[in-house]
Amino acid sequence: MQLGTDLLALAYLVSATLFILGLKGLTHPASARRGNYYAMAGMILAVVATLLNPAMKSYSFIIAGVVIGAVIGTVIALKIKMTAMPQLVALLHSFVGLTAVLVAVGTYYDRAVLGSPDPVLMTELFIGAFIGAITFTGSLVAFGKLQALISGKPLVFRGQHLVNLVVSLVAVACGIEFVMHDNLLALFIMLALALLLGVLLIVPIGGADMPVVVSMLNSYSGWAATATGFTLENNLLIITGALVGFSGAILSYIMSRAMNRSIVSIILGGFGSGGGSDQAVAVAADRRVKTASVEDAVFLMANASKVIIAPGYGMAVAQAQHALKELMDLLESKGVNIRFAIHPVAGRMPGHMNVLLAEADVPYDRVFEMDEINPEFSTADVVIVVGANDVTNPAAKSEKTSPIYGMPILDVYKARQVFFIKRSMSPGYSGVDNLLFYQDNCALIFGDAKKVCENMAAELRSV
Ligand code: TAP
Repeated sequence: MQLGTDLLALAYLVSATLFILGLKGLTHPASARRGNYYAMAGMILAVVATLLNPAMKSYSFIIAGVVIGAVIGTVIALKIKMTAMPQLVALLHSFVGLTAVLVAVGTYYDRAVLGSPDPVLMTELFIGAFIGAITFTGSLVAFGKLQALISGKPLVFRGQHLVNLVVSLVAVACGIEFVMHDNLLALFIMLALALLLGVLLIVPIGGADMPVVVSMLNSYSGWAATATGFTLENNLLIITGALVGFSGAILSYIMSRAMNRSIVSIILGGFGSGGGSDQAVAVAADRRVKTASVEDAVFLMANASKVIIAPGYGMAVAQAQHALKELMDLLESKGVNIRFAIHPVAGRMPGHMNVLLAEADVPYDRVFEMDEINPEFSTADVVIVVGANDVTNPAAKSEKTSPIYGMPILDVYKARQVFFIKRSMSPGYSGVDNLLFYQDNCALIFGDAKKVCENMAAELRSV
């Protein structure tokens, strides 16, 4: 069976609408599950409709690709840890980029489609290949950094921006030569330069700034897909690519604002450099910290009127969210006001903390975003920091040379007493020593976050 062009267009329209409803659903934790169902339904419809496209010539390659892809995808989806999501997302973006390059080159070689060189199609091929190549290598470098296959430290050299500018200009000039004179060599030189540019744009970005880069690459992958959609004359791919491109761009903007970074610097590459873990360890070596026991913390919490919990990446590693929920229930039964404070880049992906707390059935009205909760820290009796580090570091406010300088933080340092749950004195993702550890109102409770929270709950039950 094959669909007529009208039915195909209708199916694509319904798919696009379902994608938009899906995105809308993802704007709030309460509707996120429904949003995912809409998006899945949209994708199933899109795939089925495309398979029934009258232009379809043969199914054998498609079936082989779908089977191999489905097996690999299912295994990865089952095995992947939530904490490794950002690198998986970066890797998937690289596939979109590579696809855009292959479609552009493949279409060029398919002279039957191209006929005599049409400048509009040639321009689409150039744009698709250019953005796709940058996305491909940029995403691979981001994957390597997040997976710790290559150093997460920023790689900076003199004249970096000038080199980027020259490479970009020569690549665009080659693209124009390709479009104007059907010069295949120019296309390949442009491709090589764009692949290099992807690397050059991402290597100078380090530590705490990676989340913005991942969402920016997400946006690039959307634009690459849109360009592919124009090449293949597929309206749904154009719409879907634009949705990804714009939502990724908006997310990059929101995150760069949350981190007090300039979006222009991100696009040009090379921000968040300097400092680093060597300096952090040096500071840590000659300063003393206070430690506390679970009993100390429970005593203060049980007698507090307001306790704020600030979770971070360590909560995700330890899977401490269920123990925290139990702690919350026990404290609330004793009349303590409990709130959770969420930093926009806590954890390793946008919304990471919200997802985990929702999984543990923490009610949404106890969960507060950074801007809402920050004015409340000064009136909190106790703050429990659970495996968060960078997002609570006052160095972001006071140390001008710090790589995290300027990033807004959760103002936990303003609370009467802070208990910091972590396993060691290691710094967080950015490699920067946390100045909060040395404040008089801060005490560290060393241990795995889940174990410590379970012990706290057990102690609280016995009080
Ligand atoms: P981090 O600064 O990375 O600190 C996490 C802390 O958790 C570490 O200090 C670690 O100390 C502790 N920890 C790890 N496993 C633990 C366990 N089992 N039990 C107890 N503690 C444990 O985390 P954060 O404060 O959430 O900040 C996030 C950082 O990641 C930011 O720099 C952000 O820019 C970056 N980042 C974010 C994203 C997104 S989109 N959210 C994506 C990529 C990168 P010990 O080893 O001593 O226990």
